[in-house]
This record gives sequence, structure tokens and C-alpha cells, in this order.
Amino acid sequence: MEGKTTSIDDCKKIQLPKVANPAGNLTAIQQNEDVPFPIKRIYYLYDIPGGQERGAHGHKNLSQLIVAASGSFEVVLTDGVNTVSYYLNRPYEGLLIKPGLWRELRNFSSGSVCLVLASEEYSEEDYLRNYEEFKEFKNV
Ligand code: TYD
Repeated sequence: MEGKTTSIDDCKKIQLPKVANPAGNLTAIQQNEDVPFPIKRIYYLYDIPGGQERGAHGHKNLSQLIVAASGSFEVVLTDGVNTVSYYLNRPYEGLLIKPGLWRELRNFSSGSVCLVLASEEYSEEDYLRNYEEFKEFKNV
């Protein structure tokens, strides 16, 4: 299972195409061109109360692209050994997250929207909800 061997170095910020227009900008995200996995699900977090933290789990097999469609927030990733923090605040930037990483989302700005493109349909089985269980999965 891919998630067992991934590290934070397998994740990166990517630039998404931006069609600039004085009437309002537009960004399109295309499977295979901008995202290296089949997009099976899209979901978004919104109406997030101030000070709220989200995430705090890992996935065994799920890849994701996270975009701050509006506002800003921080994504902290850990592979069980190393930790990295990304700040997302532009609708034309995405954070590619491989499976097998513990993630925490925090510091949501007021009115922010966290858009997530996912490689698999929703499955609770794919979650590592407990950090001890996550470390066991990663063998660290
Ligand atoms: P969860 O992934 O734990 O949210 P977060 O990491 O953003 O804090 O999901 C929160 C709840 O929503 C959980 O009960 C499962 C449900 N859910 C779905 O029903 N479908 C989905 O696609 C997702 C991502 C979550």
C-alpha cells in the first residue's frame, strides 16, 4: 500500500492555471494535466468557526489536492518522522498530498473555503483516526 512508504517530501505545492480577467479570474483543474490522479470526489469545508482545527487523521490510500478556494489556512503534514507546514492563501495554488501522511488543518481565516479533490470515493476504512494507529501503519 503506497501510504506506508510515503514521506512529507512526496508532497508539494503546485501552481494551477489562472485565466486572469478584469471581470473576475478563473482557475480550472483537470485530471492528469494538473492533478496526477483520477478525481473521484470533490468536497469542501466552509463555515469554519474561528480557532477551529480540522483533519487530525491520516489516509492509507487516498491522494488529495487541497486548495484555499477562498481565504487562507495552514496545513501541517507529518509522516511520523518529519513535519512540514504549508500556508495556502491563493485559489490558483494547490497542495498535493500523498497517502500515508497525518494532516492537521488550522488557522482558517474568516469565510475561508477549503476545496479538496480526492482520488477515491469516501471510505471510513481508509482513515487512520488515531495517531498511534498511524505510527503503527507507518512503522515508525
Ligand atoms: P473528516 O474527513 O473527518 O473531516 P476533517 O478531516 O475535515 O475534519 O470528515 C468529517 C465527517 O464528514 C465525518 O463524519 C465523515 C464525513 N464525510 C463524508 O461523509 N464524506 C466525505 O467525503 C468526507 C471527506 C467526510
